[in-house]
Amino acid sequence: MSNALLETIVSRIEQTLGDRERPLALHEPEFGEHEQERLSACLASGYVSTASEETTRLEIALARTAGVAHAVAVSSGTAALHLALLAAGVQAGDEVIVPALTFVATANAVSYCGAVPHFADSSLPDLGLSPERLEAHLQRESEQIGRVCRNRRTGRTIRALIAVDALGHPADLPALTAICRRYRLTLIEDAAAALGSMRDGVPCGAWGSAAAFSFNGNKIITAGGGGALLTDNGELASTARMLAATAKVPHPWRYEHTSIAYNYRMPGINAALSLAQLERLPELLRRKRRLAQRYQQALAGLDGVSVLTEPRRTRSNYWLNALLLEPGCELLLEPLLAMLHRQGVQSRPLWTPLHRLPMYSDCPRMELHGTLSLCARTVCLPSSPRLEGGADDA
Ligand SMILES: Cc1ncc(COP(=O)(O)O)c(C=O)c1O
Repeated sequence: MSNALLETIVSRIEQTLGDRERPLALHEPEFGEHEQERLSACLASGYVSTASEETTRLEIALARTAGVAHAVAVSSGTAALHLALLAAGVQAGDEVIVPALTFVATANAVSYCGAVPHFADSSLPDLGLSPERLEAHLQRESEQIGRVCRNRRTGRTIRALIAVDALGHPADLPALTAICRRYRLTLIEDAAAALGSMRDGVPCGAWGSAAAFSFNGNKIITAGGGGALLTDNGELASTARMLAATAKVPHPWRYEHTSIAYNYRMPGINAALSLAQLERLPELLRRKRRLAQRYQQALAGLDGVSVLTEPRRTRSNYWLNALLLEPGCELLLEPLLAMLHRQGVQSRPLWTPLHRLPMYSDCPRMELHGTLSLCARTVCLPSSPRLEGGADDA
């Protein structure tokens, strides 16, 4: 691929984004009157902290959106993952299968439990865990002892698997569910960036024993910070709720706590903002889909590059659009990122694969060729809903 082609890619991206003020961020929040109204009402009520009706309203709305029985609003997506793992019974000394291709929070949540991430490989079309490669790895490296899956090499129990819906695209959740059944692993879905996405008509956030959403500032809806745990399991939801609230025994005046726990509750003020944003989700999804189509049209027909589209049988929220250089073009990744940044177009590669981070370099893992190749070839592009209209609406 020549420099001329890189210039063509950049110019087509620029045309797609239009004549807007630079720099253009990767993903900006969007707030309007609706958010102002809900925030004002919350301030006027005085219930800005953790005993707020807004939190209950948000939880009901989130559970409905994800098609699950329970939602527990918490302070971040990381907190939701941590609680999901604890409530699902992950213990110190266990291993948990985690893609090496994810944001570090996925593995950190495992470490907070005293457990060890066991890194598995990801693949196209969804950037999620590769079911075929994972199954082959588990067949080779694990044995079933009673109801427990044991890592033959480390002797540790492999207790759970976290499927990540990377960039908002649903992972191959049916195949991963089947693997978890076969190997008796608990499935947790890291749907931090996948609110509004679906696989086989089932919303992301509804797969596995529990799932996590994030409402961080760069997500499709945001409260500045925040998250939620989703589950159909009432007992798991109660455990998570109790652990998120310092394990305090409900009582009007006594302070009794049953275990060492966490302060992971979502303040009412964040819940009010999250709820206002959630009410706009269908509109945000429509606009993000239009932007994705514009990127796809703009870069169609160029040799050496493609745009990541939603995999078959899925509907993606297109949280972050990304282009993929073809294998062999890895050396062009940095020049492309530099050119885009020079034009004021914020862009970034995928995450540093987690086994390459110092604190995770000794963790058990399978061959990670797919992950390394995807990381060397993918560029994430500005994806704020306001960019959907292109030059004419700028
Ligand atoms: C895949 C993934 N998991 C977990 C998280 C953590 O969410 P939070 O930042 O709300 O803690 C993020 C956030 O960006 C994420 O992208």
